[in-house]
Amino acid sequence: MLKSVLILPVLALCACEAYKILVIFQLPGKSHSILGDGYVRHLIKAGHEVWYITPYPKKDVPANLHQIDISEVSASPLESLTNINAVLDKEQDLTDESKFFDLFLNITRITLNNQHVKNMLDDPNQTFDVVVVEWMLLDIFAGFSAVFGAPLIWSSSVEPHPAILELMGEEVNTAYTPDIRSSSAPPYSFVDRVHSLFMNSALKLFKFFYYTEAEKGVYDTVFGPYAAKRGRELPSYYEMRFNASLVLGNSHVSLGQATTVPQSYKSIGGYHIDDEVAPLPKDLQKIMDSAKDGVIFFSMGSTLKSEQFPNILKQNLLQMFGGLKQTVIWKFEEVIKDLPKNVHVLQWAPQQSILAHPNLILFITHGGLLSTTEATHFSVPIIGIPVFGDQYANVARAVKKGFAKKVDLSYNVAEDLAVAIDEILTDPKYKSKAKELSFIYHHRPVSPGKELVHWIEHVVETRGALHLRTPAFHHAWYQKMYLDLAALVLLCFVTVCFILRIIFKSKSDLNKKNN
Ligand SMILES: *[C@@H]1O[C@H](CO)[C@@H](O)[C@H](O)[C@H]1NC(C)=O
Repeated sequence: MLKSVLILPVLALCACEAYKILVIFQLPGKSHSILGDGYVRHLIKAGHEVWYITPYPKKDVPANLHQIDISEVSASPLESLTNINAVLDKEQDLTDESKFFDLFLNITRITLNNQHVKNMLDDPNQTFDVVVVEWMLLDIFAGFSAVFGAPLIWSSSVEPHPAILELMGEEVNTAYTPDIRSSSAPPYSFVDRVHSLFMNSALKLFKFFYYTEAEKGVYDTVFGPYAAKRGRELPSYYEMRFNASLVLGNSHVSLGQATTVPQSYKSIGGYHIDDEVAPLPKDLQKIMDSAKDGVIFFSMGSTLKSEQFPNILKQNLLQMFGGLKQTVIWKFEEVIKDLPKNVHVLQWAPQQSILAHPNLILFITHGGLLSTTEATHFSVPIIGIPVFGDQYANVARAVKKGFAKKVDLSYNVAEDLAVAIDEILTDPKYKSKAKELSFIYHHRPVSPGKELVHWIEHVVETRGALHLRTPAFHHAWYQKMYLDLAALVLLCFVTVCFILRIIFKSKSDLNKKNN
């Protein structure tokens, strides 16, 4: 009796379905790790045990979080791809696919070579209830799901795009669905549509002919032996690529567009934002509280390093900011002397808390998805200066939605910014659009963090959520395109022609004979 009294509460706690979840965010970029940290925060809060493969491990973590430190991946040359001078001098082609594939494959190899990752895979007693992997062009990490025999969830850090939806079995129409690297937003002109079709086909063909073999090679050689050690045969790469239970997308209609997605795609955009805004540091709070004419916040994110900023640009920007009546907070990693009175430079800035302040009137940003999401969350209009990757697309979308202006990064950036600042602050339509979108963003039945936990638990509790998979998976490509019907129609047509010809011929033969 006593025993059961003691055991019961324990059972009540554990039967709470505390699952063991593997979360993999391997890319050495601050924004990727913020997205990974968001999963960890919500899952830990929900009482689950999380194993987290990350290049940025934290100190003082709760007991149910096991971090696997892969900081060695940050030695890979991601930063050289975001060199500001190369962008300014227009020397950089950031749309070159093979560069990105090579880079991500290299990072993947480093991760798989990490001793702690190897130990985890090599231990036949190690199990997980579900595996969550950030998807970035490569599908190799489907192997974790194969080795552990656990359902797979892809985390997509951007808007839903053809490449990720294809993994869920859906072919979307490229005439109005932007490609992952697209820098324009529908509705598309003729040229845009052709470009979109071309970009998407190019990525597909490139992957099919050039990269699939390389990915399969890594998948087979790395995961094969671990599966064998568990007495299991490794399922084929082609099968596992398409075997994810869900895609959890860092997207929302208020931020992007109403793309047609399969049932196995769930939007959880905004989950990385803390439910409660952290208070500002005292000095910053004072600066913002006393800004009568409002505050402009300027931050180019974490990938673009200030030290790369050419001096002349810094001087021009400072001079321009100094001439404004508003207070300017500039997130910049170095200390600048002789600042104008209204300009404050911060080496580190609590972005969400700054955006949440009622006196904040404008956000000048590189246009990273997290920043544009936060702008919508806190209903702030933006000026986007895109530099890299999806920033062009995010800014293009924000401009089209009507709460943003775009400024190109050039040696003229200070003058162009001055014009844009003036327009956005004098025309109230930008702020009111930001408010309208923010309403749509917040008007959801549950918060994105709750939804994240819900869907991950749903996958575990339904053993892979097979009911959410599209029936498209059961049909071959020629069946989907009705090519078998086309063949049948063609065959009937040929047969009819043939029969008619015989009839006609025998008739004319008969006529000849009678004559
Ligand atoms: C594909 O995923 C489902 C659900 O997680 C799982 O039951 C199945 O075994 C997986 N297929 C393979 C070949 O591993």
